[in-house]
Amino acid sequence: MILKKITIALLFSVSVFAQKQARIVEDFNKNWNFKLGDHPEAINSNFNISDWRALQLPHDWSIEGAFDKDAKTKQAQGFLPAGKGWYRKVFTVPANWKNKTVSIEFDGVFKNSEVFINGKSLGIRPNGYISFGYDLSPYVNYGQANTIAVKVDNDAQPNSRWYTGSGIYRNVRLVATNKIHVAKWGTYVTTRIISKEKAVVDIDIDVKNDLTKNKLFKLVSTVLDKNNIEVAKGISDGNIPANSILQVRQNINMENPILWDTENPYLYKISTKVYDGSTLIDTYETPLGFRFFNFDSEKGFSLNGVPTKIYGVCLHHDNGALGAVENIHAVRRKLTLMKEMGANAIRMSHNPHSLEMMQLCDEMGFIVQDEAFDVWKKKKVTNDYHKDWDAWHKQDLEDFIKRDRNHPSVMMWSIGNEIREQFDSTGIAITRELAKIVKSLDTTRPVTSALTENLIEKNFIYQSGALDLLGFNYKHEDYKDFPTKFKGQKILASESVSALETRGHYDQSDAIKAWPIKHGAPFDGNADWTVSAYDQVKSYWGATHEENWKTIKSQDFMAGTFIWTGFDYIGEPDPYPYPARSSYFGIVDLAGLPKDVYYMYQSEWSKKTVLHILPHWNWIKDQEINVWAYYNNADEVELFLNGKSLGKKSKQSDDLHIEWKVKFEPGTLKAVSRKAGKVVLEKEIKTAGKASKIDLKADKTSIKNDTYDLVYVTVSMLDKDGNLVPNAMDLINFEVTGGGKLVGVDNGYQANLESFKANSCKLFNGKCVVIIQSNGKSENIQLKATASGLQASTIKVEVN
Ligand code: GAL
Repeated sequence: MILKKITIALLFSVSVFAQKQARIVEDFNKNWNFKLGDHPEAINSNFNISDWRALQLPHDWSIEGAFDKDAKTKQAQGFLPAGKGWYRKVFTVPANWKNKTVSIEFDGVFKNSEVFINGKSLGIRPNGYISFGYDLSPYVNYGQANTIAVKVDNDAQPNSRWYTGSGIYRNVRLVATNKIHVAKWGTYVTTRIISKEKAVVDIDIDVKNDLTKNKLFKLVSTVLDKNNIEVAKGISDGNIPANSILQVRQNINMENPILWDTENPYLYKISTKVYDGSTLIDTYETPLGFRFFNFDSEKGFSLNGVPTKIYGVCLHHDNGALGAVENIHAVRRKLTLMKEMGANAIRMSHNPHSLEMMQLCDEMGFIVQDEAFDVWKKKKVTNDYHKDWDAWHKQDLEDFIKRDRNHPSVMMWSIGNEIREQFDSTGIAITRELAKIVKSLDTTRPVTSALTENLIEKNFIYQSGALDLLGFNYKHEDYKDFPTKFKGQKILASESVSALETRGHYDQSDAIKAWPIKHGAPFDGNADWTVSAYDQVKSYWGATHEENWKTIKSQDFMAGTFIWTGFDYIGEPDPYPYPARSSYFGIVDLAGLPKDVYYMYQSEWSKKTVLHILPHWNWIKDQEINVWAYYNNADEVELFLNGKSLGKKSKQSDDLHIEWKVKFEPGTLKAVSRKAGKVVLEKEIKTAGKASKIDLKADKTSIKNDTYDLVYVTVSMLDKDGNLVPNAMDLINFEVTGGGKLVGVDNGYQANLESFKANSCKLFNGKCVVIIQSNGKSENIQLKATASGLQASTIKVEVN
């Protein structure tokens, strides 16, 4: 292939061309067969798959398995199975695609995939997080049946420090284009000039010619606003040699661009059309957002000229009970919870995330730190990516940048998290090499890395001089010294906190203590594997949420922070041993139910007026209870027990909560926040009586019958007066009928060893969550929940 570069100036003329769909993008997730184990003979078209399971992708076989103390994946991956598996699909390629380029796109396969078409290997891809694709055109039988087989090998364990899942866990598409088309990830859009009046958009477009002859073509790129109205246009002509890629640059002037920011994430898109004469032969869309940002060594981060603290959370890629299965509805739910908390940034820990995640960060207004690696050449666990480093890191990094560089949400490239090479001199050359790769593909964002070593002489990644932005993990005690120590450097707390909490569990008084032990030392936590949800238990390397936030909040030079983590994730329940199988670090639990500290962040980060009190109000008579309140937009909070005032309190200096010690008596605990004497908010918690009713609350009233859409139903145990029974642990059985199927259950308890795929779930501290997915039928869904000794409850969800 020849790669030629031409630059063509903007043309303003409006041309009229025939409009038709020139690129076919098909959902390729349906009608696959799957079998665990190794089945190399499945690549043959005459192979008998009668004992293979039929399924729809995305799929993760690990999440379907049982927890096993002796699993090879170990605790880091939540004691779930891995192994090998094969996927197979027979499909017909229309005869009239003969003159097209047909390719397959995988958004992510964990891991070591090998893809075969009609018995022929198309290639391997070790990296389980990378998006990749293959040209099928030379091998497909047009107008006839074809067989795709995908081998997935996640057998060599342990290979990760967190849960990865196994299988084709992200979407797959079939793409058919004409022989002249925009190449895969073939556009690169930058906004050279942005002001309120004007913007200049530069687009580099790789046009690909799969023909054996030269071709004249015309390229029209149209900027469309969010209502799909054309607001600017660039037109170029070119002549592309046979079998080559030609890079075309278009510069488009735009007037009065609406800026993208975290509160109004205004998105445009660029529709690029390729014409052969007047015939439309390809269309390709690229997201576009106008924003500018700056990291400053003294003033921190600014977005569009506005000083903006990065209120970030780190997220792993799993979707709780769905495992690694990617689903845009699951991602939207996660991000909505984070947005409502006031978070404005996401760190893609510690690897490329899905297309849906990137798309939603653009749409919902998150600042993204996009991260490529958790290991380089030096391993963290026996079979991790270090084994593939030499052969694959260059291509993986390039593909990652090419895939994600048009997302306006992405504002930092992280080349690695807590990389071992920071401690030895080999780190210098590798950092420089990686930064160079990034810069060769994108110069508009800083290159960063999440570092742990703040002694300059010991940190070789820093010494490379190749980082534009220094990320530090867990250095809350030292931030104050950074402006002098790292003079002139731009600094971000790339990871912080790692406090531990179990939703709805509260240890009182002397039982509340900072996590006292070193990693791996004998267990001395609670016998039931819970951790108190007062924000007072932390890992020895971390800080409580409050300790950390105080240090970030008060340092202007600090661009912001990414909290470890927004959600609990499967695996890494450090420092708890088996049966703990999911992390305690989340602000929200694995089921998606917020822990109390969620409201501390909401009171600090969001514009919402907040008053939240904890704990619940079911204790032993006369027991001394710590009552905490998170609040904002008020001067004081007064607490009442059964109508009697327990006093007014207000936050002093840098306090982030207020607290009372209260002798328990059953009844009503009520908090009232006031500003200038006027009531702002009131909050009541009542002592709950006996469990009496299963309450079902769906997060949507209707879903689509598209086999993907999800509805999350929160199940709560209430007493006869509608109060949450905070210690209810009843087993609830579920039955789903109509247009949905149950795809996951979870109660957020880190040591729950029941299957995420069961038709029942034990409540944990009064609650659990059921996930129902459209099964394609156009019938309304009914969820029926039953528990011993109680009347069944039902809820209906429309399907349309
Ligand atoms: C960090 C690491 C994260 C996670 C966290 C747990 O050091 O970067 O991936 O392991 O610790 O506290």
